[in-house]
Amino acid sequence: MGKIYVFNGPNLNLLGQREPRHYGRQSLRQIEDELQGMAKAAAVECDFRQTNHEGVLLDWIAALSEEDFLILNAGAWTHTSIALRDALAGVKVPALEIHLSNIHAREEFRQHSLIAAVCIGQICGLGKQSYTLALRYAIDALRPVAAHTEEAER
Ligand code: DQA
Repeated sequence: MGKIYVFNGPNLNLLGQREPRHYGRQSLRQIEDELQGMAKAAAVECDFRQTNHEGVLLDWIAALSEEDFLILNAGAWTHTSIALRDALAGVKVPALEIHLSNIHAREEFRQHSLIAAVCIGQICGLGKQSYTLALRYAIDALRPVAAHTEEAER
């Protein structure tokens, strides 16, 4: 079975102290802990990372396989990086774009995502729940049979 990757781009290491009215008061570590708990309960592996270096993110993406699932908060690179868009278009991994804030309700330069068209979907504006809902989706995508069996048993 593939793995769920959660990649975080620039400045997301500052969560908790950074513009809390947009990004909340939880640290990235606290979000990661919650996601790891959910992943463990679902018996899937979740690899959670953050980088402030664009090339590092591109290398991480290039190493993913079709069996994996990527949840990506690309931060400001969402709005600027053609290289990131090309990296996502160049691999077969399904990717879900996420943001804590509602990028469509903010400054004009944030309202356009260069990666949206190469992602399977986008979750934004739900704060920490953008991450937890994305993980729920990823777990079902990775384990379709198990997910449907659980559903039927409910
Ligand atoms: C963000 C939104 C981006 O516009 C911004 O540059 C970020 C965080 C979000 O999670 O809301 O760094 O991706």
